[in-house]
Amino acid sequence: MGLLSWVIGTKSVSALGYTIAQFNPENLNLGKQLYLEDCSGCHIPIAPQVLPTNSWQNILNNRRNHYGESLPKTNNLTNQLIWNYLRFSSRPYLQGEKTPEYITNSRYLKALHPQISLPKPTTHQSCALCHPGTAKLDYRTLSEDWQ
Ligand code: HEC
Ligand code: HEC
Repeated sequence: MGLLSWVIGTKSVSALGYTIAQFNPENLNLGKQLYLEDCSGCHIPIAPQVLPTNSWQNILNNRRNHYGESLPKTNNLTNQLIWNYLRFSSRPYLQGEKTPEYITNSRYLKALHPQISLPKPTTHQSCALCHPGTAKLDYRTLSEDWQ
């Protein structure tokens, strides 16, 4: 994979010994690219903000059982970079809150859509109704007729 040989070649990552602990722009951008490659083959790439960090962690830790599917193996570095990007871009739930498996049950989905009437349930298939740029993780641009 092109991206990967490039990242191994950069100083910042090799210096970290494969543990990506830094939210530097280079690593975050790589994580985002890898997220797009790894997580948009079967459905749109989902905006990290709509789920709590805990949900993303569960998903990355359960590649063998992904909503009834099995995700292809990735190497450790790719996983670390994706995880780094997802945890930077999402916020954790409070202790004791139930970690949602589906977007529709996430309170962050609601928080990001104040006063907007969302489809019930809101799934990954609903996002493009209002967000035409989902393929590029652009959730700022809105369809003209989203209402
Ligand atoms: C092999 C196909 C496939 C790949 C690759 C894949 N997914 Fe999924 N994903 C699914 C299926 C199937 C569902 C269940 C929802 C459905 O059936 O529409 C799902 C559901 C989800 C949901 C819940 C969506 C909702 O509407 O609530 C999230 C979040 C998610 N995937 C994240 C990821 C992440 C993160 C990756 C990359 C690590 C990934 N997916 C890669 C097949 C895939
Ligand atoms: C019915 C239309 C509609 C649907 C469906 C919808 N959104 Fe939105 N979304 C909006 C609107 C409108 C805003 C802007 C809200 C504001 O700024 O008050 C928004 C804002 C966002 C933002 C914040 C963007 C930013 O950076 O400022 C994210 C992230 C987001 N939506 C993700 C999603 C995801 C993921 C889905 C699918 C699970 C989804 N939305 C479904 C209408 C929708």
